[in-house]
Amino acid sequence: MKTNYFLILFSCFLFSCTTAVFKPTLSDVEYAKTVYPSVTIDELNKGLTLYANKCGACHQIFVPNKVSPAIWDAMMPKMKVRAKLEDEEMDLIVKYIKSKEGKLN
Ligand code: HEC
Repeated sequence: MKTNYFLILFSCFLFSCTTAVFKPTLSDVEYAKTVYPSVTIDELNKGLTLYANKCGACHQIFVPNKVSPAIWDAMMPKMKVRAKLEDEEMDLIVKYIKSKEGKLN
């Protein structure tokens, strides 16, 4: 019983760390606007949800700015097919990933 309680606490800890790194911020929106002028934080949040649910089904969800832009660009078309995504879903994920490229590694 004690172990279970510890595990629950530990997962909460992991989860909050994860959301802090992945969560779209206002500065991410500002950065994304340099590429997608009409982008909103709402779109970036939707992109994150899709990214976590669809892409996280097979592997970890990579921290966006820990993977180089060249690798993202090369992998995205392939991963779109693997995750069986609609164009609109993929657009939201790409906007979300790009929004995080402004962060220093
Ligand atoms: C059906 C399983 C599957 C799904 C769904 C999937 N991937 Fe992948 N992904 C893989 C596999 C397997 C690899 C290993 C490289 C390869 O085989 O191409 C990979 C590799 C990658 C890499 C390269 C990581 C590196 O450091 O080289 C990235 C980035 C990536 N995936 C992003 C995504 C994104 C974004 C999505 C959602 C749009 C996604 N993946 C959905 C299976 C999947």
